[in-house]
Formats: sequence, C-alpha cells, structure tokens
Amino acid sequence: MRLFVLTGAGISAESGMGTFRDTDGIWSQFDPMKLATPEGFAQDPALVHDFYNARRQNLLEASPNAAHTALARLEDALTQRGGDLYLCTQNIDDLHERAGSRHVAHMHGELRKARCMSCHAVTAWDGPLGLADNCPSCQKQGSLRPHIVWFGEIPLYMDDIAHALEEADMFVSIGTSGSVYPAAGFVSEARDLGIRTSEINLDPSDNAYLFDERHYGPASDAVPAWVDRIVKALEARG
Ligand code: APR
Repeated sequence: MRLFVLTGAGISAESGMGTFRDTDGIWSQFDPMKLATPEGFAQDPALVHDFYNARRQNLLEASPNAAHTALARLEDALTQRGGDLYLCTQNIDDLHERAGSRHVAHMHGELRKARCMSCHAVTAWDGPLGLADNCPSCQKQGSLRPHIVWFGEIPLYMDDIAHALEEADMFVSIGTSGSVYPAAGFVSEARDLGIRTSEINLDPSDNAYLFDERHYGPASDAVPAWVDRIVKALEARG
C-alpha cells in the first residue's frame, strides 16, 4: 500500500504549536501580510525575525504528540511490507522527524533552518536569527532569512509531491483547514487520479465534501485510532 499523507497545523496543535485560522489562531493575533510575505520582510526584517525567533523558541520547548508518533509507526509498518508513506507537511515544525518519521517533505519550509539570500545556502539554525548574523556558508552579514515559504512564494518539492500523489493508493489529509493552495488542491488531484481520500481533522475542513472518508476529533486520538485500523488490516493480509 502506498499512502500520501498531508498534514497541517492541526496535527501539532496539541503539542502547543498553535494553528493559524482557528479562533485565537496565529493569524488572528498577527498580520500575515507583515510577517509571512517577502514584502513584509523587506519592509521590516527585524519584526519578521522576532516573530519567527519566538516561534522557533516555542518549537524547541515543544514535543511530538501521539498523532506524530502514530504516523511514524505507520511508516514503519508500511515499509516493512514493501509499502510506502509519503509524508508531505505544510508545517514548519520538526515534530514529525522528532517522532521518528524518516522522509518528510516540508513544502512550506522549516523553522529550524535559515536560508542565505545571497548564496542560497540552507543551514540548520536553532538560536535567534537576525540581521547581525553572517551566513555560515558565504560569511555575508544580514543576508539570512527564515527558510520558510511565505505567501506569494512557490512551495518546495512540488515535483516530488506530484509524483508521489500519482503513485499513491490513498490520500489522507490530517489537521488542515484546506484553505491554502496548492496543498488545498491535492484532494481534488487525488480524486481525478481515482485515489481514495480520507480527512482526519478536529472539524470539517473547507473541502470536507471532497473526501470519501472523514474522521473527526483531536489528532492525538483520531490519528492513532486510524493508524491502528490500517495496521490491523496490513497484519491481516500478512
Ligand atoms: N486535532 C486535529 N485537527 C485540529 C486540531 C487538533 N487538536 N486543532 C485544530 N485542528 C484543525 C482545525 O480544525 C483546522 O481545520 O486544524 C486545522 C488548522 O487549519 P489552519 O490553522 O488553517 O492551518 P493549516 O491548514 O495548516 O494552514 C495552512 O496556511 O498560513 C499558512 O503556511 C501556513 O502552513 C500554513 C497554511
């Protein structure tokens, strides 16, 4: 079995990472146009660095939850049987990796990395990032930005993602509102490919009607329960 799993902020909500569009979500407290666009960064880079530095510190203090752990367990169960789990996340946290997932496509980038606007090198970065920092690769000062895809920029790994979707037997969306493209369009692409689709979320997403199956509840309950069902079916097949 080849699974394509898309995750969003909802899978990390119970790890304390916050979501964007829920009540009191990140975008209800901060202006995405000022903090998550290239124009906003050009206008006030220090403000944007402060925003991501605070979220990076929060991430360093966070831990994966049972949903992240369940997906890592499912990846093992599938690969042991010649199957595959392609994990595409909109999240910039590394909680999937810390839970044991080995292949994670961060289509919106990664909070614990910095990217040089001069030499384009991407570097692991856990401390505060700012204009006084030098690129570890080309040594230029003030050329580093968060390695994050902002609104209006092209998401990462789109060719790999398209190929993985074409190869999948099932598309599963977990913890996303289905409101930001291109990720929000993946379910329609899966349907056009004749692939079964399933949504696991706290509440119905904007495109819930497009899913063949829907499971609702907190990810730390709903994802392990769903993984248990899949693993039991794999074990029954031998
Ligand atoms: N368990 C499962 N789902 C949850 C939980 C939870 N504990 N808490 C919230 N959710 C669901 C919400 O119901 C919502 O549908 O997670 C979803 C979060 O939606 P958004 O806040 O819109 O986050 P996301 O879909 O990941 O946003 C996509 O938008 O701002 C950009 O780049 C940012 O990657 C982000 C993208």
